Amino acid sequence: MSNGKVLVTGGAGFIGSHTVVELAAAGYRPVIVDNLANSDRKVLAGIADLVGYEVPFYEVDCTDAAALDAVFRQEAPFAGIIHFAAYKAVGESVERPTAYFLNNIGSTAVLLEAMAAHPSGRLVFSSSCTVYGEPAHIPVDESAPIRPAESPYGYTKQACERLIGDQVAAAPGFRATLLRYFNPIGAHPSARIGELPIGRPNNLIPFLTQAVAGLREPLTVFGDDYPTPDGTCIRDYIHVVDLARAHVAALAAPDGDERLSVYNLGTGEGASVKEVVAAFEAATGRAVPHRMGPRRAGDVVAIYADAQKAERELGWRTERSLKEALADAWRWQEQLGR
Ligand code: NAD
Ligand code: WQD
Repeated sequence: MSNGKVLVTGGAGFIGSHTVVELAAAGYRPVIVDNLANSDRKVLAGIADLVGYEVPFYEVDCTDAAALDAVFRQEAPFAGIIHFAAYKAVGESVERPTAYFLNNIGSTAVLLEAMAAHPSGRLVFSSSCTVYGEPAHIPVDESAPIRPAESPYGYTKQACERLIGDQVAAAPGFRATLLRYFNPIGAHPSARIGELPIGRPNNLIPFLTQAVAGLREPLTVFGDDYPTPDGTCIRDYIHVVDLARAHVAALAAPDGDERLSVYNLGTGEGASVKEVVAAFEAATGRAVPHRMGPRRAGDVVAIYADAQKAERELGWRTERSLKEALADAWRWQEQLGR
């Protein structure tokens, strides 16, 4: 039995590919739209292996209104739409602010117009804990204030949240769920899909696994003089499969009175950079070559999620540990070989 079609923009990407697999496992029929700006056709083969059939795929840029409309004409109605497609590199966004504005906000506006023309189920949007900046209280819940964005990337997430909220107010039949991810890591335990960093990774886990694989110099820990127990920054690292399952839960949730919902998606537990290094070594038996270095500009000191709202309202909680996530990230890196 099918729960209906789900359009997944950015479905060939890191979080999107894992979500496509979980959607199929839950009886939905995913349809992928991706322009392959930050992914590879090979991901589709990995998805097909896991799902057992070839998931429909459209190589379409979501900022192209005519091309996106053609997908809707071919495939609608959708039981739900998940919008992952975006550029996500914080540093690059500082160098190319207009590209981030056009792609991230532009694609969201174009998608909302297509949804207005072809009524469908709810929109689930990929937001980020970056909207909170340095929170006054941790764990941070959804009522915490949105702080001025530190980067053009962060600004696009805030602007899209606002745009989607405005569209909910403007269109009576429209429902949306904003999901604020903490730090997604890991890979599918099968190692058939995972993260494909292009060039030098900025994020901790892909850099760490490449350093262990000998593809990079030792990991530099960005600052060990922060006001935290061991001096290094604290984050909430969530296994990508747990994160993917939250999207299924958000789609399956019964419609409530609120047409706009927002949820933090994290484990609720913080881990410092030093703790991540130790957990990786314990999980894999591999030493992490690393050294202490200066702080990185713009880093938040400590943030982790209060994700109780998602547990209460979506019946979702994380099930995988940090060690499992790191072991899966390593298994993925080993078979990737690059
Ligand atoms: P990713 O780069 O692996 O996936 C994004 C996918 O979207 C890629 O496959 C890319 O080719 C595609 N894409 C980009 N622009 C497009 C366009 N205009 N039209 C069609 N496809 C397009 O990134 P990810 O880590 O899977 O992130 C998915 C979403 O989650 C993004 O919106 C990102 O901002 C958000 N997010 C990610 C993180 C993280 O740390 N990975 C944290 C918070 C939020
Ligand atoms: C994690 C920790 C670093 C690399 C970013 C975005 C955020 C969200 C997730 C999209 C920090 C430390 C890192 C290294 C290190 N993305 N680190 N050495 O900065 O929490 O969040 O990705 O929405 O918006 O800003 O993630 O993986 O870069 O860093 O010591 O080589 O690891 O200082 O404490 P971050 P990260």
